[in-house]
Amino acid sequence: MEPYADYARFLDALISGISEFGFKNYRSEVAHALNGGASEALRSEVRLSELKRHGAFFTTEKIARHAIEPLAKETGGAVYDPACGAGDLLLRWAENLPLRASLSSTLESWGNLLVGSDTNPEFISVAKRRLLLCALSRNSRWRFNPKGRADDLFPQLQVQDFLNKGIAQRATLVMNPPFNQVRINESWASGKTSLAAVFLMKALALLAEGERVAAILPEVLRSGSRYEKWRQIVGEMLVFERFESLGKFSKIVDVDVFLLQGRRGAPVCPNLWKRPDASPKLESICNVRVGTVVPHRDKQAGPLVRYLCTSSLPSSGEYCGGEFRRVPSQTVATPFVAVRRTSSPSDRIRPVATIVTGKGPVALENHLISLRPHDGKLATCRLIYDLLRSPRTRSSLDQTIRCRHLTTSAIRNLPL
Ligand SMILES: C[S@@+](CC[C@H](N)C(=O)[O-])C[C@H]1O[C@@H](n2cnc3c(N)ncnc32)[C@H](O)[C@@H]1O
Repeated sequence: MEPYADYARFLDALISGISEFGFKNYRSEVAHALNGGASEALRSEVRLSELKRHGAFFTTEKIARHAIEPLAKETGGAVYDPACGAGDLLLRWAENLPLRASLSSTLESWGNLLVGSDTNPEFISVAKRRLLLCALSRNSRWRFNPKGRADDLFPQLQVQDFLNKGIAQRATLVMNPPFNQVRINESWASGKTSLAAVFLMKALALLAEGERVAAILPEVLRSGSRYEKWRQIVGEMLVFERFESLGKFSKIVDVDVFLLQGRRGAPVCPNLWKRPDASPKLESICNVRVGTVVPHRDKQAGPLVRYLCTSSLPSSGEYCGGEFRRVPSQTVATPFVAVRRTSSPSDRIRPVATIVTGKGPVALENHLISLRPHDGKLATCRLIYDLLRSPRTRSSLDQTIRCRHLTTSAIRNLPL
């Protein structure tokens, strides 16, 4: 991350300029440095492959504000970001900290409250300078002593590996940990696992009863089957306070994330990952199965049947056409509803469904899911079709499955 030291030097020049010519002359540069500028500089100065290796993607202003501000306003006091990067979460906290009579007494007070660690020294340097700029932006008459060194401020922001350290001070934890994968062998998971899961587990072990954490985490932790045990343990140690989808992390990080905020303690009703819901599910009226044909792999053998794939099937309405193909594998009896498996929260229509009518069994490509009504009636297919295209189904899917592939269980569990 060495090239990023240039950005710390740029911020030093900005701070000197403010000391010499006053804050008013640098208002827009400071606003940019505090909101998005640090991330833009990182992207232009460091190769993407290097950023991925470090899991170094800073939280956008919008997400950081949404995730941190309510907690900062409510709790105040000390905060700890164990993987603080250039300080984007700490900044949103600092904006809500009280000011003292002078810049130096404010910096001293903030220095006791703002705690952070990161393995990259350049990030810690930039974080300190941005927090200083944040203080300067709160009182435009303040000047930083030209002989002062930004590196001497905020002594609790340190170059450290969080996974080998404890918490030096009691504080609220905020985090957007690295999302890259590591190999672990723990009671709750083994093999390739997201570092985000490891970070939250460590954070929970360090928090004292009643202390709070707000974490921005990849959606896979919420839905991936390999994180089931992790979810169970987190659900038993944390009283959930906020639990929300935040959408795509940023323009360059195409990963959907969610916010988990909670208080360390034993929940009365553990495991709120999925809200208890006793309403009847779609599976009570139909069989849900993935298509069995892999066209480039399967031999053309067996009976000649009607065959549907994503390229031939219309994306709405009722359809009785299709090609013919020999298939050795299972077929579906008409009528049924076919749903495309590839489906993203950013798609205009989700899920994409078509009613398949006509005579004879139909073979489906494995990019399609069939929903065949138990009663075999076209009227029930139409009911399923309307249900799939309703806004309620859309928002339910967007909440439960943020990745780009629909699973049969997500479809089965859609509320009727
Ligand atoms: C996704 S970035 C988030 C940075 C910052 N919290 C934010 O929200 O913008 C994750 C950060 O974790 C840091 N990191 C990676 N492994 C770490 C470790 N073991 N201990 C501390 N920091 C680490 C990276 O350098 C990177 O700055």
